[in-house]
Amino acid sequence: MIQMIDPELEKYAEAHSGKPNALLQELETYTYENCGQPQMVTGSLQGALLRLLVRLTGARNILEIGLFTGYSALTMAQALPEDGKITSCEIDKKNAAIARSFIERSPHSARIDIRMGPALQTLANLNGPFDLAFLDADKENYCSYYDLVLPLLRPGGLLVADNVLWSGKVLDPKEETDRAIADFNNKVVADPDVEVVLLTLRDGVSLIQKLSTQR
Ligand SMILES: C[S@@+](CC[C@H](N)C(=O)[O-])C[C@H]1O[C@@H](n2cnc3c(N)ncnc32)[C@H](O)[C@@H]1O
Repeated sequence: MIQMIDPELEKYAEAHSGKPNALLQELETYTYENCGQPQMVTGSLQGALLRLLVRLTGARNILEIGLFTGYSALTMAQALPEDGKITSCEIDKKNAAIARSFIERSPHSARIDIRMGPALQTLANLNGPFDLAFLDADKENYCSYYDLVLPLLRPGGLLVADNVLWSGKVLDPKEETDRAIADFNNKVVADPDVEVVLLTLRDGVSLIQKLSTQR
């Protein structure tokens, strides 16, 4: 992921936004020291956005596609009400084991349900409605995830999709993954059943509200 905003401004934005708690800070450090592709971790700024969105939408039932080491699940769990729940899909056992070890140290372990396996299969067997979904897994499947997740969202529910600028490669897609993200963005903006805003935060975050009761 390339840095698209001046690093000093990014630091300033982080310093003037909500902060991760000590466990999240430890998890981020652990991920950077022990895992491949640690930049996949959601991090402080986007974590603050996720917590805000969970509270603003009053979400109780959250779906996550892409747990990794658990940063986004743990940060969203902080903003959930007592009876809230997160169902999180992950394919990689090592990532899930790290996530579990941190989740178990938090007060939220009973509220985060990890579903192992390819998310397309997991989603096909899930029942909604979900109030909020966070899409942050394999980019090649973003369009398929969209088709499966939208019917699982309640009308008015929110889909948050990460990496939608894909380091700027959406402007001139060359690789399969570049095209997959560009196709996803084209599909969403052309869908009359949703309202979308693509935020230029970090690697691009789309906020997509389901308007229709038809899907
Ligand atoms: C960008 S990371 C998620 C980052 C995470 N949301 C966080 O805040 O740290 C993407 C994760 O999706 C997982 N993943 C990739 N393909 C998948 C699939 N087909 N089904 C489920 N999980 C998948 C990867 O193993 C990886 O852990």
